[in-house]
Formats: sequence, structure tokens, C-alpha cells
Amino acid sequence: MRTQVAIIGAGPAGLFLSHLLHLQGVDSVVVERRDRAYCEQRQRAGVVEHGVAEALRASGVGERMDREGFAHDGIELRFDRRSHRIDFPALTGRNVMIYAQTEIVKDLIARRLADGGRLLFEAEAGAIEGTETERPRVRFTHAGAEEVLECDYVAACDGFHGIGRAAMPGGAARTFEKVYPFGWLGILADVAPSCDELIYAHSDRGFALHSMRSETVSRLYLQVPADTDPRNWSDERIWDELAARFELRDSDWELKRGPITDKAVTPMRSFVTEPMRHGRLFLAGDAAHIVPPTGAKGLNLALHDVALLADALTAWHGKGDTSLLDEYSATALRRVWRAEHFSYWMTTLLHTRPDGDAFDRRLQLAHLHHIADFTAATTTLAENYTGLPRV
Ligand code: APR
Ligand code: PHB
Repeated sequence: MRTQVAIIGAGPAGLFLSHLLHLQGVDSVVVERRDRAYCEQRQRAGVVEHGVAEALRASGVGERMDREGFAHDGIELRFDRRSHRIDFPALTGRNVMIYAQTEIVKDLIARRLADGGRLLFEAEAGAIEGTETERPRVRFTHAGAEEVLECDYVAACDGFHGIGRAAMPGGAARTFEKVYPFGWLGILADVAPSCDELIYAHSDRGFALHSMRSETVSRLYLQVPADTDPRNWSDERIWDELAARFELRDSDWELKRGPITDKAVTPMRSFVTEPMRHGRLFLAGDAAHIVPPTGAKGLNLALHDVALLADALTAWHGKGDTSLLDEYSATALRRVWRAEHFSYWMTTLLHTRPDGDAFDRRLQLAHLHHIADFTAATTTLAENYTGLPRV
């Protein structure tokens, strides 16, 4: 089998890359080890930056997002049991779309198949070869057969546990990592959201987040110790803890409860590998970097990476110009590190450290008050959250 760009992974990064390349007349094949249903059901975050929403629309895959997603003009920071709204358009002229990653994946798969794209599910890549030559290859197994995909370039969009990063020769890459001593217990519940905008809550009991999927489905998270087994959290315990962390003084706001349909713990880490390229192998999305979910940057970074990579591959395809490919890693890493900083900052601002003390909590509250009270600080949060146009 032969193509111009071999793409490993049908997450948002691999699918959007394949779609953008198709629009520019560049041929690709996507190999994905899971089946289609699995890829379309995986629960992930759901905040789309202003510029990323525009890029989805401009490429013709924003129609359902605009119909079924919600445009949000702000978030609420809740701390010291008081509510503080951050108004995005007033501060930045931008907003965000609330639309689940899993829905973006469904839209991209449907579009690639409608456009005749070659998307191979249950096709596991086992090796990437010849990345220092002009004819790299991806070996994969599909329907019990060993296959070879010959190509001009390989895009490893295969997530944190993929083979792309490991295919960089020893010594060629450097990694940076921070693992947090807590995770998020996330639930989906069949209940109308108790708020119109997302609530990021700081409390002495730990962080909590109220998000949403539709008018009848809520998505909520609780900070928990990293080794938490979700089976130890009954539905009642989860709702009680959420209610305690979201509690407001002097207000009759109440958290609505409903049947919990999904419960899982996500570990939290920050991770970057540099460079994001070796020879004809390019890394994009979670294959190259991980952020903790507090800033909602994972999906957005993945889509930014592949937008850059698509432009670079288009310049190579059309004009034989490889300068953008040469610049890809350095250009992508500037935004990656900006998002790494923002996600780390939001995480440390809002979570309770197991080894933290009352002094640390006072500092967090002082910082939160500063963000709520001073336009320059509020704007910094809003600029980063809605997505920086240029980094
Ligand atoms: N062969 C084929 N496919 C593979 C292989 C392999 N050896 N290894 C991994 N994959 C597939 C996975 O099954 C997965 O579907 O690669 C895909 C990677 O997708 P994601 O993990 O969704 O990564 P990415 O597209 O970079 O999207 C990043 O996902 O984890 C979230 O918060 C993150 O929102 C961000 C987004
Ligand atoms: C989500 O809706 O799942 C979500 C929203 C915001 C975040 C993280 C996750 O920061």
C-alpha cells in the first residue's frame, strides 16, 4: 500500500490532519488500532478555543458544532464560596464553543468516509521504518494480515501510548515531565446542568468542575488522590462531595442531581517531548505532549499542531518547499509550552496539594482574588482560555 502521508491514530489529531490534507489534494491513509465505535465513544474534554472553532468551520466540519454545541461567553471561578464571572468577549473579543471532543471525532470520521478517505480501523501499527530515508514505511496488522504502508512522510498522531515517540532514536529527543499527586474523578449524569457556563471551583476540600454535554447531560469532575478507585465512590458520595465543593454563601444556588451513567478517574500529568520531528517522522497531539485538563487545552493543541503540519505538507506537495516542515517543531513547541504553562498554572491555582498547608491555600486565595479583581490578571486568564491567536 502506498500514500503520501501515513497517519497513525484516528483521534482528533490524525483525523483533522487527514481531512485538511485531503482539502489540499494531499493523499493520506489513517491506521487506527481501535474500532470505529470505540473511537467515537471515548469521553474526553469539550472546550473548543475560538480560533480552533473557526478552523473547523473554515474546513467544512463545523456545522453540527454550531447547531448542537453551545457558544460560551465566560466561565465562573468559584472560591471562598463566592462566584466571580469572567466575561470573555468583553476582555478578549472572543468566546469558546462547548462541544465534546467525541462529537468532533464523529464529525471528522463521517466527513473522511464521505470524501472517500482511507481510514483503516482495527489496524495496529507495529513499526515505523526508514524515517531518515526518502521512503519511510509503517508496518501494521489489519484483519489478521501484515501490511506495509509506504509513504513520503509519517505523522504519528497516536496519543501518549502510541509508537511514534518511541520510534525516535535514543538521544534524538528530550522529554520533560511533571506528574501531579491527584487526578480527576469524572462523571456523566442524566441531569440538566445546574449552570449556564462552566464553574471552576476552589475549595478547602479540593477542586471541582461543572461542565456539560447537552441540555439534559451534565459532566462534572472532582479532584481525588491519584490512586483513587472509582468503585469506592458511590453515586451519593460523589453528589455530596460535589455539592460541598460548589457550595455558595448567601445564595440559594443548588446542584441538581441525577443518575450517573459514566464514572472514571483520569491521572494528571504535564509532558513534552522535543523535538516533534525526526527525519520524515512528525509527532502531533498527545503523542508529543500532555497537559492536565484544567485549562482544557489538550484537544486544542492537537488541532493546532496538525493545522501547522497540514500547511507544511501542502507547501511540500505543491512547491517542493520543505521550509515549513523544517520549522514545524519549533513553531508548534512555542504554543505547546505556552499551553503547558497555562495548564500548570490553572492546576496549581485551583487544586489542593496533599502536602500543602494553610499558607499555600491563603496564597491561592490571594491569587484568585487578584485574578477576579484586576482587569490585567482577568484578561490574561481569558486570553489563554479562549486561545491566543498567535504565540
Ligand atoms: N496503531 C494504530 N493506532 C494507534 C496506535 C498504534 N500503534 N497507538 C495508538 N493509536 C491510536 C489510539 O487508539 C487513538 O485512537 O491513536 C489514537 C490517538 O488519539 P488520541 O489519544 O485522541 O490523541 P490525539 O488525536 O493527539 O488527541 C489529543 O485527546 O487525550 C486527549 O486531552 C487529549 O484532547 C486531547 C486529545
Ligand atoms: C469537559 O467538559 O469535559 C471539560 C471542560 C473543561 C475542562 C476540562 C474538561 O477544563
